[in-house]
Amino acid sequence: MVRSFVHTSHPSRVVFGVGTLETVADEVARLGRSRVLVLASPELADAGDRVEKALGPLAVARFDGAAMHTPVAVTEVALEVLRAADADCVVAVGGGSTTGLSKALAVRTGVDQVILPTTYAGSEVTPVLGETADGVKTTRSAPEILPETVIYDVELSAGLPAPIAVTSAVNALAHAVEALYSPDAEPVVDALALDAIARLASGLRRLGSGTDDLETRADLLHGAWLAGTCLGAVGMALHHKLCHTLGGSFDLPHAPTHTIVLPHAMAYNAAAAPDAMRRIAEELGVADAPGAVFNLVRNAGGPTSLRELGLAEADLDRAAELATAKPYPNPAPVTRDGIAGLLRRAWAGERPASGAAASPARITEQVVETFAETADQRLHTLLTDLVRRLHAFAVDNDLTQDEWQHGIDFLTRAGHITTDTRQEFVLLSDTLGLSSVVDVLTNSRTPDSTPSAVLGPFYVEGPPELAQGSDISRGAPGTPLYVDVVVTDTADQPVVDAIVDVWQSNDDGFYDVQLPDLDGPVLRGRLRTDGAGRLRFWSILPCAYPIPADGPVGDMLAATGRHPYRAPHIHFMIQSPGHQQLITQLFVRGGDYLDLDAVFGVKDDLIVDFVPHSGPTPDGHAVDGEWRELTFTFRLAPA
Ligand code: BEZ
Ligand code: FE
Repeated sequence: MVRSFVHTSHPSRVVFGVGTLETVADEVARLGRSRVLVLASPELADAGDRVEKALGPLAVARFDGAAMHTPVAVTEVALEVLRAADADCVVAVGGGSTTGLSKALAVRTGVDQVILPTTYAGSEVTPVLGETADGVKTTRSAPEILPETVIYDVELSAGLPAPIAVTSAVNALAHAVEALYSPDAEPVVDALALDAIARLASGLRRLGSGTDDLETRADLLHGAWLAGTCLGAVGMALHHKLCHTLGGSFDLPHAPTHTIVLPHAMAYNAAAAPDAMRRIAEELGVADAPGAVFNLVRNAGGPTSLRELGLAEADLDRAAELATAKPYPNPAPVTRDGIAGLLRRAWAGERPASGAAASPARITEQVVETFAETADQRLHTLLTDLVRRLHAFAVDNDLTQDEWQHGIDFLTRAGHITTDTRQEFVLLSDTLGLSSVVDVLTNSRTPDSTPSAVLGPFYVEGPPELAQGSDISRGAPGTPLYVDVVVTDTADQPVVDAIVDVWQSNDDGFYDVQLPDLDGPVLRGRLRTDGAGRLRFWSILPCAYPIPADGPVGDMLAATGRHPYRAPHIHFMIQSPGHQQLITQLFVRGGDYLDLDAVFGVKDDLIVDFVPHSGPTPDGHAVDGEWRELTFTFRLAPA
């Protein structure tokens, strides 16, 4: 369906960065102004001093009396200061109160405004002013109210204590969330809202994990700007109405109230605004948007119950009555019972109701929630993501009970067939390509060294120690192979006395451990590099071989029409103090299955010539007919 919409941009100049406070004089000059009244609040007198200093001679007056809800009486005092100083510009540093005062002065006098926000209120980018006189709040909107320039200084915002940063950020999040299901919603604002949600969620997650640095604060401040832009562009709904009611009639603090109510307001609207919820959930990387916002708040240590803000249970009914007294646009019908239920949950600090009793999304969030206290951050990340992806796998494929049971049986069989010498789970990982994915990831961290390759199941600890020049085949049939390799570091310096374990299959495609009747070990051994980092030994040319296919992994290969063969290769494990261990394989150029390796383990840099020769051998070893020669340089990464 083609979407029709109206988009209006409010022109404001935004300067964003770390240390941008220092640009304030330039920004004032850019507006062609020269006489500045600096506005701050008693709590932010220091920031006011810094701004005044940065303005130098441009600062002609200072007023530190900004107060909550922008009382007209305070504005009138500030107006006197402005007039007495003949100021033509206001520079305000602070949160919503200071911005409010600045706007109140601008709408009365037309002075230009430069705002340096210290919270995530977002009002610096809206053309809206709310004022109170004799306890009555009035709100108006006018172009003069919108500040000319906003300077976002991440460093300045970092002064906001973490607990306040959390509630302030969720207040901002609410602007973005409600913008997505506003009747005026349009694509430009949608994009801003989604970006705001991603940044605010990232900042909140970082705060929750104790990472309160400039990057965290930059996420929050950037998100707050975008969310504020949404607030200035489109109408808000139920959530904002509830918060205004609770703030106005029950004197609850603004940002904490937003923080508690938002997940519940989202849940209330979820069924009526499925598209908005889906987009928010996607942005957050979750299935259940309201539940995820609840988790964000909880994990960041934000308040989750109206009770803890001091609201009496007895006031809930009156709050529901007040909030539903006048109709207003909202995706879900606003009913007295519905709102009473919402408020009751929010009061008690319960998780937001998700509509359906037991949806997969709800279960996902519940499981993820149980990991919230995991001390090990990495473990938390991996478990959470694993559960999300597993659940999504089941949901996206509409997994049946039978299919689930088949999976369980498969894993059970893998468990039963696994022994000390048969590792079916690793084989499963290998044949699904997971081992090679992890290997490539690992290898990408040390690009100057020889690529690694999967270990495979046939390595045996403590292989027999062999002297240089030994024949590891112990006379096994096959084409003789002379191996002449060097081990160096990444600066091409030889690595002396490196321990090199080698192992490979025989001419029939079996490793010694697969042949119970064989008097092993055969075709495996441990050797050491000489003073030049060099290592020479005899073996036989490896051939392609099938991985063990008599277990559930083999059944999987058969069911998918896959062959079980590995391209011919020799395994190497190289260890030396001061260097990273290298586990790799060298593949025979021209060998079978190089493009179709059953475990996806072949890398171009590891395919090498096993050069055919006939006649005398380098070390005088007696050979009949053809023999091959493998030369290679292994480069070890530093430890
Ligand atoms: C191997 O090369 O020995 C191997 C690797 C993965 C699975 C099976 C065998
Ligand atoms: Fe192998």
